[in-house]
Amino acid sequence: MATRTVLKYPDPRLREIAKPVEQVTDEIRALVDDMAETMYASKGCGLAAPQIGVSLRVFVVDCAGEDEPSDLRIFINPEIVESRGTQMWSEGCLSLPGVSEEIKRAERVRVRALDREGRPFELEADGLLAVAIQHELDHLNGVLMIDKLSAFKRRKMGQKLASTAGA
Ligand code: NI
Repeated sequence: MATRTVLKYPDPRLREIAKPVEQVTDEIRALVDDMAETMYASKGCGLAAPQIGVSLRVFVVDCAGEDEPSDLRIFINPEIVESRGTQMWSEGCLSLPGVSEEIKRAERVRVRALDREGRPFELEADGLLAVAIQHELDHLNGVLMIDKLSAFKRRKMGQKLASTAGA
């Protein structure tokens, strides 16, 4: 296992639409393990493969609190098959360091994906886990949380990111 470098906004690789994983091989499992290690090392609660420059439909999340046991979840070729309600949550992103903003998301989602062994599963999530799943799935489509903001807030976030870049 190894930690990988997390790409930062406005790296154009964050804007690519990631390709489906054709087969869950040892290489994919090694990628997933590196992603988990990178997420924990960066103190994030989610990481998508495009954020480390790998254009594949894979993400990991762990929404456990600091005093809770880890709850690593792996999603390969994920699809949201149902979503309901709305919620606002203050989100951050490892590719947009130092900023956070309230984003409107579905309150509850049902997601279908493959696990680390390539087995299909379905999961119904709400609260923070539902937010994390939607945020990471956006990364697979080249969408960043800054895109979800009003023009005014987007400009403000862009300025803040520019002023902290390289810091
Ligand atoms: Ni993110």
